[in-house]
Amino acid sequence: MVHFSTAALVLVASVLPQLSQASGLDTAAVAAGKVYFGTATDNPELTDTAYVAQLSNTNDFGQITPGNSQKWDATEPQQNTFTYTQGDVIADLAKANGQKLRCHNLVWHSQLPSWVTSGTWTNTTLIAVMKNHITNLVTHYKGQCYAWDVVNEGLNEDGTYRESVWYETIGEAYIPIAFAAAAAADPNVKLYYNDYNIEYSGSKATAARNIVKLVQSYGVKIDGVGLQSHFIVGSTPSKSAQAANLAAFTALAVDVAITELDIRMTLPSTAALLSQQSTDYASTVGACMETDGCVGITIWDWTDKNSWVPNTFPGQGAACPWDDNLVKKPAYTGILTALGDTASATSTTTTTSSTTTTSSSSSGSTSVAAHWGQCGGLSWTGPTACASGYTCTYTNPYYSQCL
Ligand SMILES: *[C@@H]1O[C@H](CO)[C@@H](O)[C@H](O)[C@H]1NC(C)=O
Repeated sequence: MVHFSTAALVLVASVLPQLSQASGLDTAAVAAGKVYFGTATDNPELTDTAYVAQLSNTNDFGQITPGNSQKWDATEPQQNTFTYTQGDVIADLAKANGQKLRCHNLVWHSQLPSWVTSGTWTNTTLIAVMKNHITNLVTHYKGQCYAWDVVNEGLNEDGTYRESVWYETIGEAYIPIAFAAAAAADPNVKLYYNDYNIEYSGSKATAARNIVKLVQSYGVKIDGVGLQSHFIVGSTPSKSAQAANLAAFTALAVDVAITELDIRMTLPSTAALLSQQSTDYASTVGACMETDGCVGITIWDWTDKNSWVPNTFPGQGAACPWDDNLVKKPAYTGILTALGDTASATSTTTTTSSTTTTSSSSSGSTSVAAHWGQCGGLSWTGPTACASGYTCTYTNPYYSQCL
């Protein structure tokens, strides 16, 4: 149990009831019955100790996704030569931290080595190449992944199949064949189709549902659909539109997950944009909270410092809930509130309370926070002292940081 003074309880209950049992994003998500709240990361970022300290804060992140190091160009750069060094670094970090791993990805049109894209294939030889890749990766990571994104971004915006070496050579059958190969290599891992612009109703979302039906029609297992959710501030679909869309997927007896959430803006960032961004994050998180089959939410890295957005969309950025200096933005509170709203609604069960207590007390906090690390805030159970040379500095009621 966390012990509050009466005055503190009154403050928490009157001002921030939804935060009273949540010390972080994953803690709140799990308390509300979700499997995880997590973030993407990538190998080059792991030399940054302040970054790694927060990445490893299991109050916020119960799950991580490797941004690049399990992709085809990283894992099978030459035919049948598999390299797992970089992917293993992320998998080992997740294991050391006690975080779930979403494994990403097996079959995609992008980041393919030239031996795949420039090869001369027949239907039979390309199916063999694809199955060999899937079998090797899924076997190597067997028991380490919560889920695999088996097929990534197989659709055009109009809902037709994307022209890729896979589709052109094998036809739509590449999709059920890929899922069957993954299921054969690890019957326990969750198998997902993952795509973007399927977060609202339309041709592409309908086509993604048809992919679920296609795989099922082959008698092959598909466990979930990942909705990437790379959004733009002020133009995300409403919470109710997102919830209705998620329900249309779960009606097909699959889970859904928000797999790559970020919400970019045209720079520079302003107070108004940051406020709207917080509202927009809350819409997507709220839609997941309203959907029983929505298992979790992954942000596509947690700090603007390591976001893919500025390199891909010039002039845009500030898409993550933490800023370039690893300081929480209003979006953090928007997310926590959206998670906590449902936590309050379901907090009458004893199981939920004890789960919360366990995950808070087993989060492995050290006694001293590192430079940039959290050192205080409402419901914070971690260290309140800073490493030598740094001062615990108040940022807002939820967050103080060693600066
Ligand atoms: C390739 O082979 C698979 C498996 O037999 C089959 O389902 C698919 O339709 C074939 N594709 C083409 C283009 O012939």
